[in-house]
Amino acid sequence: MQRTLLLYSTVDGHTKRIIERIRDRLEAQDHYVQLAELERCQLDVSQFDKVVIGASIRYGNYRPALFEFIRNNLVPLQQRPCAFFSVNLVARKPGKNTPQTNAYVAKFLQQSPWQPALLGVFAGKLNYPQYAWRDRLVIRFIMWLTKGPTAADTVREYTDWGKVELFADQVAGLGSSQ
Ligand SMILES: Cc1cc2nc3c(=O)[nH]c(=O)nc-3n(C[C@H](O)[C@H](O)[C@H](O)COP(=O)(O)O)c2cc1C
Repeated sequence: MQRTLLLYSTVDGHTKRIIERIRDRLEAQDHYVQLAELERCQLDVSQFDKVVIGASIRYGNYRPALFEFIRNNLVPLQQRPCAFFSVNLVARKPGKNTPQTNAYVAKFLQQSPWQPALLGVFAGKLNYPQYAWRDRLVIRFIMWLTKGPTAADTVREYTDWGKVELFADQVAGLGSSQ
């Protein structure tokens, strides 16, 4: 049975929801899956056949812990089939919603010594009421600049869940030809 480690780095929980959907899809295909928050992960990467890492963007950046984890586990990550996905709001835009066209996937590949075989990008969630006032102000301004919703009570999920499930199926197939 394939053992897959799913790790997520989130601030508001949306990346966790996405990776839980991936977990459900893999479990439905009889994969053994363990899910953990990257920042608290005590698991040994080398005990798994595959690793998937998902991380969200905040003010243009991933959290430093993402790259720290990659550096600390570089050899086992490089030795097995792996995937990475980015969660951000730029990906709500057609033309910026594929690993080839999303600037934050490119940024990840520039910053990471680990270059996973499979890449994904998913549009995240906009939730003004949940944000601190300063974040709300900044994000509303960015949304105004990029022609997104600016009403202060907007809660909108842009994630294409079909695309998430397709990605999960690609994870299931990772390394199967090796
Ligand atoms: C304070 C803040 C800053 C953000 N900065 C960016 C950004 O620079 N670019 C972007 O595309 N999305 C940005 N987002 C959108 C998040 O990536 C999106 O809400 C995502 O769903 C968050 O995932 P998480 O809940 O797993 O952290 C930002 C969101 C917040 C709240």
